[in-house]
Amino acid sequence: MRLLLQAHVLYVLLAVKVEKAKYIYIAGFFLTVSPDSIQLVAEHAAANNKVDYIFGNETEAKIFAKVRGWETEEIALKISQLPLASGKQKRIAVITQGADPVVVAEDGKLKTFPVILLPKEKLVDTNGAGDAFVGGFLSQLVQGKSIEDCVKAGCYAANVIIQRSGCTYPEKPNFN
Ligand SMILES: Nc1ncnc2c1ncn2[C@@H]1O[C@H](COP(=O)(O)OP(=O)(O)O)[C@@H](O)[C@H]1O
Ligand SMILES: *[C@@H]1O[C@H](CO)[C@@H](O)[C@H](O)[C@H]1NC(C)=O
Repeated sequence: MRLLLQAHVLYVLLAVKVEKAKYIYIAGFFLTVSPDSIQLVAEHAAANNKVDYIFGNETEAKIFAKVRGWETEEIALKISQLPLASGKQKRIAVITQGADPVVVAEDGKLKTFPVILLPKEKLVDTNGAGDAFVGGFLSQLVQGKSIEDCVKAGCYAANVIIQRSGCTYPEKPNFN
């Protein structure tokens, strides 16, 4: 799971950069490193009433649902509607499912977006697909683009990465 908290305060850096951070990205593995840091960052994000995004793949969504006792269909919606620390900001849940459509839950509504389909023979290595997706998504989000544009760029970046071995990419992107 990857959690993106938008906030004005990045507490992990405790002193210098603190006031300036508008976007904070936390990868799931960091949870095993320092839950306390994440808690601090989260509390500050909540105090600033910012939107938060949560990213996960199908497996992660299913495990999350199982732990909570949810049906698969309700997962994205329910994650987006879990209580918020401040009770004021909102949460948008984005679930990718490999070649199946990306599911986005926002304001109690579900939207699905088809991914760029890839013939089997072009599929090289799906490692990092989710990370590439988030990278593409964020490249538009930080520019204030719509969720649809964010998902489009996410799918583009993921599509490039899965056609290559390891984390490599072409010199020039052809996303527009
Ligand atoms: N077999 C596939 N065909 C086409 N697109 C894919 C495929 N696998 C992954 N992708 C792209 O990568 C994104 C993330 O893939 P996913 O497997 O859900 O993430 P993770 O790497 O976290 O498991 C998908 O939304 C899609 O855009
Ligand atoms: C989802 O990501 C986890 C790592 O967080 C990985 O173990 C799992 O295999 C991934 N699932 C799919 C369907 O790619």
